[in-house]
Amino acid sequence: MEQTAREVFATFGFGEIRPPVFEPTDLFARAVGGETDIVSKEMYSFEDRDETSVSLRPEATASVCRAYIEHGMQQLPPPVKLYYLGPMFRRERPQKGRYRQFYQIGAEALGGTDAPGIDAEVIEMVMLFFARLDLEGVQLEINSIGHGAPECRRGYVEKLKAALEKVKDKLGEDSRRRIETNPLRVLDSKLESEQAIISGLPRIGDHLCDECAKHYAEVKRQLELRGVAFKENWRLVRGLDYYMRTTFEITAKGLGSQNAVCGGGRYDGLVELLGGPPTKGIGFAIGEDRLILSLQEAGKGGIAQRRDVYIAWLGEKAQPAAIDVAQKLRKAGFRVELPPTEQKFGKALGQADKLGSRYALILGEDEVASGQWTLKTLADGSQQKYSEATLLEFLSKQKQLSS
Ligand code: HAM
Repeated sequence: MEQTAREVFATFGFGEIRPPVFEPTDLFARAVGGETDIVSKEMYSFEDRDETSVSLRPEATASVCRAYIEHGMQQLPPPVKLYYLGPMFRRERPQKGRYRQFYQIGAEALGGTDAPGIDAEVIEMVMLFFARLDLEGVQLEINSIGHGAPECRRGYVEKLKAALEKVKDKLGEDSRRRIETNPLRVLDSKLESEQAIISGLPRIGDHLCDECAKHYAEVKRQLELRGVAFKENWRLVRGLDYYMRTTFEITAKGLGSQNAVCGGGRYDGLVELLGGPPTKGIGFAIGEDRLILSLQEAGKGGIAQRRDVYIAWLGEKAQPAAIDVAQKLRKAGFRVELPPTEQKFGKALGQADKLGSRYALILGEDEVASGQWTLKTLADGSQQKYSEATLLEFLSKQKQLSS
């Protein structure tokens, strides 16, 4: 899965960055937002020896922006395209698809313009990755949450607050608290009793400023140009404060209530907020654990590393030949299993089968003496004799045919 991510992301010009596993707590508080669940309830924070607070990273966008500033990446031709893989930590209530240490594959495009073509291309990239993995039931939802100005999101949030105040008594405890701390997050509520109320609330799409509305319309057009299917969801606000304009989430089959395999969006103000120059930014992170769950539910998980050749050797004189041919085959790129001790051929063939080997190479003392080795194709049980040189030649040809 990670290998596929690397391959797909490279075709879009993304290179790898490895942010640290912990950072000053303040970085996450500033970037993700002090009032968010992530920062206020879920971070693993501890005191360093100099009494400053550090935290295990709950996400990596903040670190990538910090690195962008610290290493003067604004000097590079924009957008600077970076991806990362690794563990993240959030002290959430564990359940299926939700863990306290989980893994993300994320990507960020920083600098340059905020052209909607970038938003669409980043989304196209993650959708292509999912298609490569043959992930099932993939659904992309998008939204625009505008920008912070009074004539855009800030104005909308005021209206939303006023509307929420009116229905306060009918809301659950969490949503009531959020009216003050983070009213947009009320839209995220999954509480059954709140759904009808939420559907009657003012919608952000009706309150975007002209620039943001234009940007959103163009993002949709750019997605269509790329043949990326999407659904609009005006309630998609995301749980991190740095977003503006485009937000998106991707769900997949077989995941139950934790069904988002990817979340992302645009965060144009973030680098500046962290002390850097005004910089555009957009990115996403995929929940690797959930991706694996979804693939497994569809019967695609747990593909063991198959072997090309299992070397079934027997007898003291056969071992040097077995070691020698294993070295040659591995050098030529074959996946080879060489048992460390000799085995009876019946047992060896059973092992070869269990490991999903394509071939078993039978090397007994007779074969070594005659220079005629037996290669068994496990799928159909057929056998063929080869000299060492013709064997290597035959296997290389087969490899070329299958690659
Ligand atoms: P996020 O939506 O908080 O966004 O996380 C992205 C994905 O990580 C989620 O969709 C989910 O698949 C996975 N995930 C989150 N929490 C857990 C958990 N406790 N257990 C298992 N999987 C989890 C971000 O983290 C942003 N930094 C994404 C981003 C990058 N936005 C712009 N650039």
